[in-house]
Amino acid sequence: MAEVLKKEFEARGHSVDVEKVKPVKEHSFFAWWHIRMVKGDCEIYPPKIWDVSKYDVICIGSPNWTRLSLPMARYLQKIEGLKYKKIGFFATTAAPPAFEWYILSAYLLDLTFTRIIEQKRGRIVESILLSSILKNWGVDSKYGKRAIKNFCDKIETPIFPLKDYFLNRREIESNRLLVIAFSTLLVLSLILHIVLSVFNKGFLSWAQYFYLAAIFVFSILLLTAVHQRKIGILLGKYIGGFSAVLLWTLAMVFAQPSLGRVMILGYILIFILFGFFHNPKVVIFSGLFSFLGYGILFYTYSLKEILNPGLDLVLIGITCGAVASITGSLQKYHFSLLDSQEEIETAKVVLEIKVEARTKELKELAASLDEQVKVRTKELQEKINELEKFSKLAVGRELKMIELKEEIKRLEEELEKLRKHES
Ligand SMILES: Cc1cc2nc3c(=O)[nH]c(=O)nc-3n(C[C@H](O)[C@H](O)[C@H](O)COP(=O)(O)O)c2cc1C
Repeated sequence: MAEVLKKEFEARGHSVDVEKVKPVKEHSFFAWWHIRMVKGDCEIYPPKIWDVSKYDVICIGSPNWTRLSLPMARYLQKIEGLKYKKIGFFATTAAPPAFEWYILSAYLLDLTFTRIIEQKRGRIVESILLSSILKNWGVDSKYGKRAIKNFCDKIETPIFPLKDYFLNRREIESNRLLVIAFSTLLVLSLILHIVLSVFNKGFLSWAQYFYLAAIFVFSILLLTAVHQRKIGILLGKYIGGFSAVLLWTLAMVFAQPSLGRVMILGYILIFILFGFFHNPKVVIFSGLFSFLGYGILFYTYSLKEILNPGLDLVLIGITCGAVASITGSLQKYHFSLLDSQEEIETAKVVLEIKVEARTKELKELAASLDEQVKVRTKELQEKINELEKFSKLAVGRELKMIELKEEIKRLEEELEKLRKHES
């Protein structure tokens, strides 16, 4: 998969280095299972690349070992330079990817990877999961080729604002949590229904249970489709809120007065749960829908007796309002934190660019000064040579004059001597 991604990125004009993380000792499939469960750690050969800070994008891959594979977990503990880097995560699994991703263990795989990367302040831009065994979901399949293309497209997109990045991640995470919560509830409700019917204590008939199970399955499929397409992921929370209120209302209609008015608290629990998703609009949406649900309950003959709309509706309204306002202020606080972080990061990047530019300028200046000193030295040397030549000439002339003067003096003395001799 790493090689396929390398080829795809190179075809798009990028240069790619691949690092293979190897365990010191290889083991069989079952031995790895044993080590994974009992020891939970393994030694790896020291990789060539510990510090990845020089790369624009880092893609990290791992087989799905219900969580990260041990060699990759070991590598990620040590790896450096991930801060603010764009990161892509690719993984292989035995089961069909979508099934594994939403229902089985790939959720845990993604979770451990995300936690480690978040600790190192890296940013996971995209994840991809393919099957290593099933050809229809492998790298060479149509599904695999499309997934790899989408993965590379996403990795190539320029950096998006920090706020969008975190909101997007959060939306994806909460959608998957909703799918997991609904799937778990479906399985638990099935088990509960079977157990209760064995003891002849069931409070729902199989037909009634079927309606609830159908809504569960429909919501799971809808949430998965929304997530899979990655369009309007925010829609997932509304689907979740709507489904939760609908399921609860129907459960109340079916269970009838056996659980009493306490069941009204279920609506309140739904607001509180959806409050954790940091979106006041979703809480208000579930609140409005709860009023509608309550209306359905109120017009169900057998419940009319025990319901007290004056009290219940006020309770629902007040709790919904309170949860929405707390969620709203938390969201505002979260946004302002993200804005400040983005400002700091931008300032840091600008500062780094300025320091780099200034360093380059100074280096160029130093180089040009060197050049100037060389030219000046050469000019001075030429001047010195000229002066030396001149001084040699001037001094030579002076010496000759002295010599000639002495010669004249000597000749004059000789002439004087001759004159005296003649007379
Ligand atoms: C310890 C261990 C745990 C695994 N857990 C899962 C799992 O939960 N689900 C799954 O589909 N495959 C699981 N697998 C299978 C691996 O995902 C599969 O062997 C891997 O993707 C193949 O990649 P490879 O050819 O690089 O080894 C597990 C494998 C090992 C060794």
